Amino acid sequence: MTLSGLENSDLKLIIFGGKGGVGKTSCAVATALALSESFKTLLISTDPAHSVSDCLGQQIGYHVVKVDGTTSLSAIEIIAEEALSAFKVAHQSELEKLLATSTNLDNADINELLSLSIPGIDEIMSFKAIIDFIEEGQYEKYVVDTAPTGHALRLISSPRMLDAWIKVAAKMRWKYRYLITSFAGSYKQDEVDTFLLSLKKTVKRIENLLQDKAKCNFIPVCIPEAMAISETTRLLADLEDFNIKARQIIINHVMVSEDCSFCMRRKAGQAKYLQQINEIFSELNTVEIPEFAEEIQGLESLKELKYFLFENQLNLE
Ligand SMILES: Nc1ncnc2c1ncn2[C@@H]1O[C@H](COP(=O)(O)OP(=O)(O)OP(=O)(O)O)[C@@H](O)[C@H]1O
Ligand SMILES: [Mg+2]
Repeated sequence: MTLSGLENSDLKLIIFGGKGGVGKTSCAVATALALSESFKTLLISTDPAHSVSDCLGQQIGYHVVKVDGTTSLSAIEIIAEEALSAFKVAHQSELEKLLATSTNLDNADINELLSLSIPGIDEIMSFKAIIDFIEEGQYEKYVVDTAPTGHALRLISSPRMLDAWIKVAAKMRWKYRYLITSFAGSYKQDEVDTFLLSLKKTVKRIENLLQDKAKCNFIPVCIPEAMAISETTRLLADLEDFNIKARQIIINHVMVSEDCSFCMRRKAGQAKYLQQINEIFSELNTVEIPEFAEEIQGLESLKELKYFLFENQLNLE
């Protein structure tokens, strides 16, 4: 099979995830290239290793740039720490006031607390950057490359983590509100309440988008090996826990050549895993990608990958 449904006009966000080294970046970049032939597309990397630059052979950075050799593809590598420090700078006063009005901490304690990260906040800031792009609406498709499994899951679970943090903060605020109301008779919503409310809205926006099957697709990438299959099984279960359902899966590095005894042995070794994949992931459309003789780097080899992702059905007997 080939990847399908990505051209649906409702579908905005396509996220690639999976075990380390299975080909997420290569597939994300090739997909973005393919989509950019018909749609204005933004390729977003949330991987701190920033391998999108290496894959494209072009330096991409923290600002959107046009991808050389394409007409409608742009790319950006989101740096979570940058996004987080921008958030802290922008909301320093609200964060300080939240702590100062809600606890008995002194200034030194407050500064220490502020320097600690709120759980999931760097991932949420990466996601907020993605959702801001989508809401700005300058592009028709947004393709996201993630770091290995744990990171994709942290990214996906970040709204839940932040939500838990907001609940604690809101509870502290309630106590403060109660105190003020008891002394002054009334309470006027301040900038901290507005800030918490806007964080809450961000969480909701992200959750709504992730769980909207028409708008968002998660595409796991796997290889025909035992560990990758187990990790993908866990990833899919975790995704379901977040109400996110994958429809198709890419199986990369499939041996087709029988030119030498090494190739034949590898191909034979993969057979049982391909069988397992068909059984375990029977609900998903599988898209098989052959093992290439060379690494996938630069537009020419990406075109070959794109061909297998979108045009040619690999014929496995
Ligand atoms: N089908 C293939 N045939 C040959 N080489 C491949 C194939 N797919 C990917 N590669 C190569 O394998 C290496 C890893 O691929 P890639 O960077 O896409 O994986 P990844 O899952 O993004 O890795 P990471 O988990 O480190 O982010 C790269 O050098 C890439 O060129
Ligand atoms: Mg990668």
